[in-house]
Amino acid sequence: MMTQIHDIAKEIAAYQINEPSDIEKFRIRFLGSKGLIKSLYVLLREVPNEQKKEFGQKINDLRSSAETKLDEYKTSSNKSSESKWSGDLSRPVGELNLGSHHPLTIIKREITDIFNKIGFSISEGPEIEDDWHNFSALNFPPEHPARDMQDTFFIQKGDEEIALRTHTSSVQVRIMENNQPPIRTISPGRVYRNEAISARAHCFFHQVEGLYIDEGVSFADLKQTLLYFAKELFGETAEIRLRPSYFPFTEPSAEVDVSCTICKSKGCNVCKYTGWLEILGCGMVDPNVLESSGIDSKKYSGFAFGMGIERIAQLKFKVNDLRIYSENDIRFLNQFKSAL
Ligand code: DAH
Repeated sequence: MMTQIHDIAKEIAAYQINEPSDIEKFRIRFLGSKGLIKSLYVLLREVPNEQKKEFGQKINDLRSSAETKLDEYKTSSNKSSESKWSGDLSRPVGELNLGSHHPLTIIKREITDIFNKIGFSISEGPEIEDDWHNFSALNFPPEHPARDMQDTFFIQKGDEEIALRTHTSSVQVRIMENNQPPIRTISPGRVYRNEAISARAHCFFHQVEGLYIDEGVSFADLKQTLLYFAKELFGETAEIRLRPSYFPFTEPSAEVDVSCTICKSKGCNVCKYTGWLEILGCGMVDPNVLESSGIDSKKYSGFAFGMGIERIAQLKFKVNDLRIYSENDIRFLNQFKSAL
């Protein structure tokens, strides 16, 4: 046993490391699970008990010396590979790959910034709504045919039917329930409708809702606010026109067109040769809606409006297939870098 320990000690001392792969060979030969030192521990079992301690100690020392040598080889090999690195430290760094905002985020921010400037706060509400906030409080009585205008996704929760909101108008109700006038707020968010997906329709899209309630708010205030908005968004030459319409939660109601920015109202296929593009729905908040949400309709009046973010993005970026907004195609998204 003693001679074996000596022989191995000598071999360790004389071991030549010439290339990095020799380090692993060294480890396997001496320290591996089938290595020479392991085999000594096996032999130790045969040694008489009174000598076990002495031999055990010697084998331990041998193992430590092999480990120290292995560590030294490893450190010096790391150093030498570092010194071989031939990179150029003075080279300019590579171009940083900056991401970009999603086009819908860009438009949403543009819209909210415009209203922020005239004192509208930003508010949000839940995407999973109850019937009250999405319909009833907005003057859609049960069985009202206007409910069919919006193909709703329902979720059954116990006995309760919960809806994915079909419009951001539900946020109006929540704001009015929790605040007293003056209220001036803008609520962007995602909405859902049970529609077959095509270039012109999607089962989810985005809207921005606006609400202004105070004493003496008139239809003229609504019109002027929307004209300001259109000019900020589409440029000073933009004009608007209001067409009478119907929404259960506003009376009177209107749809708003903006003069076609693409053909300068001369007529093109986007405006279908009318010179006008429809961008939003609006109206004076129906007194029923004010009362349902705890606001005194004798004292206060207000206006509301709602628009689709995809629709505005379509006009500003000339992207008219709705599906591409949610496909995450990097070739599409990269084009919005400069619009950051
Ligand atoms: N909620 C309507 C929709 O999704 C849009 C709308 C119309 C909102 C008129 C309003 C409004 O606040 O006054 O089609």
